[in-house]
Amino acid sequence: MAFPNSQQVRQLIKPLWFSACLLPFLLLLFDAFTSGGRELGANPIEAIQDRMGLWALRFLLLTLSLTPLRQLTGQAWLQQLRRMTGLFALFYVSMHFLNYLVLDQGFGWSFIIEDVLKRPFITLGMLGLLCLIPLGITSTTSWRRKLGRRWQKLHRLIYLIAILGCWHFWWQVKSDIEEPLLYSLMLAVLLGFRLWKIKLAKKTTPG
Ligand code: HEM
Repeated sequence: MAFPNSQQVRQLIKPLWFSACLLPFLLLLFDAFTSGGRELGANPIEAIQDRMGLWALRFLLLTLSLTPLRQLTGQAWLQQLRRMTGLFALFYVSMHFLNYLVLDQGFGWSFIIEDVLKRPFITLGMLGLLCLIPLGITSTTSWRRKLGRRWQKLHRLIYLIAILGCWHFWWQVKSDIEEPLLYSLMLAVLLGFRLWKIKLAKKTTPG
């Protein structure tokens, strides 16, 4: 199988990947500003909340898929898409939160604080967002160098964030659990693969 070189990754694959990652947001803008927002249905604020939340979760899972995909296919360049994909997860979570903050709650901070304290699914979402922010800030090479081994430890928070994201999804659905179940199963496979790899490495390491 042909492997793209680093110049092809930088000049072709990364810009294409960036455009693909931005597409769900552009589609949302398109739906919101054409046809007077009718494309978003009877409750546009809820539709934006749901769409951005779903994309946030998808990008979290995509970020977690890149290492197993690289290991299974031997395509090392996939690793180079991890930072961008993770940052898009942060972008979609931020849009999801901003929609809640501005359009849904109209900056009603006291109500938001009450919501975070009283509705467990909002508490979980907020925790996810708060954990994701430091990962976004420290995602640069200079931060990676500065933090050394601690960088790896900090970035393991991504597992917790994905669990919080799935849990948050489970807790906000009323009865139809099919979709959150599907995302949770995908996450279980991704985490299971990592545990299996760790076990395998321990077995093959002498002593
Ligand atoms: C890691 C962070 C987060 C992820 C991955 C996430 C993901 C999701 C997902 C997948 C949904 C369900 C969408 C659907 O029903 O189709 C959802 C719903 C929702 N999320 Fe989040 N979320 C996160 C953080 C937050 C935060 C910080 C808030 C606000 C403080 C929030 C508020 C909400 C609300 C209000 C809904 C329900 C919308 C409705 O009534 O349909 N989420 N979220």
